[in-house]
Amino acid sequence: MAAQLAVTFTGLRFENPFLLASAPPTESDANIMRAFDAGWGGVVTKTIGLHPVVNVAGPKTKFLRASANSTYLSMQKRPGTALHSSWNWELISDKTLDWWVPRIARIKQAYPSRILVASIMAGSGSDEELRHWQTLAKACQDEGADALELNLSCPHMDRADMGSNIGKDQELISIVAQVVHEVARVPVWAKLTPSTTDIVLEARGAFLGGADAITSSNTFPSLPLIDPDTLDFEMNVDGYVSSGGLGGPAILPLSMAKMAQLTQAFPDKAFSGIGGIAEFAHALNYFLLGCGTVQVCTAAMLDHAIGPNVIKGLIEGMRSAMERHGWSSLEDFRGLRRDHVVTHSKIRRPDAKAYHGGYEAEGYAASDAATDAVADAATGATMKPASR
Ligand SMILES: Cc1cc2nc3c(=O)[nH]c(=O)nc-3n(C[C@H](O)[C@H](O)[C@H](O)COP(=O)(O)O)c2cc1C
Repeated sequence: MAAQLAVTFTGLRFENPFLLASAPPTESDANIMRAFDAGWGGVVTKTIGLHPVVNVAGPKTKFLRASANSTYLSMQKRPGTALHSSWNWELISDKTLDWWVPRIARIKQAYPSRILVASIMAGSGSDEELRHWQTLAKACQDEGADALELNLSCPHMDRADMGSNIGKDQELISIVAQVVHEVARVPVWAKLTPSTTDIVLEARGAFLGGADAITSSNTFPSLPLIDPDTLDFEMNVDGYVSSGGLGGPAILPLSMAKMAQLTQAFPDKAFSGIGGIAEFAHALNYFLLGCGTVQVCTAAMLDHAIGPNVIKGLIEGMRSAMERHGWSSLEDFRGLRRDHVVTHSKIRRPDAKAYHGGYEAEGYAASDAATDAVADAATGATMKPASR
């Protein structure tokens, strides 16, 4: 049977489970329509708010690169490097709700069967702010948005009642989700921040408030590196920097760990996975942990702004993996590895005879000359049991 790429997620039918995440690739109607033409199953708009937005002077995003033959890490563009991560301190859309409203309608008229998710954000410190969430939700759904994604996770907000500052407070999350749920006629997704101790608590707050799905992760709070010669941060304005967000390959394992916690705690709920996806093998991690859709930002930004080659690779990669494994739809493999993440004490130990523990036996005290051999032995690359 031919591989079926279409999925149903929070009651919505997607041609494929790959979405462009809320970010520069989705900041305009022109980009979003190009993204649908390129084959993305869904698009989440750049976050729309009601407050005036003024971004910092200078670049809002840069990319940290690793060198193949040295340990040098830098944002400097140079040949022969591999992408390590993106770093950004971009705020939400600097276009108004009035700018977005007719565009949402136009996009949906042109692409009625594609899924358009409106990302929205307001504050939570007053009744008026909570009403802003409802204003945004109603305006976007009235124009045809198929779902709403609540941005509870932007890492660079000074306001204590906005962005990831809401996302760190399970009660506020619950209140915001409930306020939106009261007026929503479309599914509500809550996008959480990874920068909390136990993301299960925040997810529980969102579900209690009526959220239909959790999106995770937004970027990880972080700083750009300091140039060892100039002593300036590699991104700064007048020498100053503030906390921004890390995305791209570096966060794939970090975001997976968050997702594993979420899908284990709520095996019957819907999750959209984000973080470090550039090809199907990356996306597969999230599907095997239980996600029903995934989203992409950094990789798309680096591929003609909306990721035409990325989506082509994701679709082809999914099709060929499904044929290879004999899967006919995502439901055949969704969650297959969710329960393989266990507490450390449940991981098998060698029996007493085979165990040669202690720092010395592990090789951590070895001389420099032996370091490579020790590293190989520690990873099992060349190790033969000593007692054999
Ligand atoms: C420049 C930039 C701007 C972003 N703006 C938003 C935003 O407005 N709303 C939002 O929910 N997430 C925003 N994000 C976060 C992304 O949607 C995504 O969660 C994050 O980049 C991780 O995915 P990635 O590893 O594929 O980049 C932004 C990310 C970047 C790099």
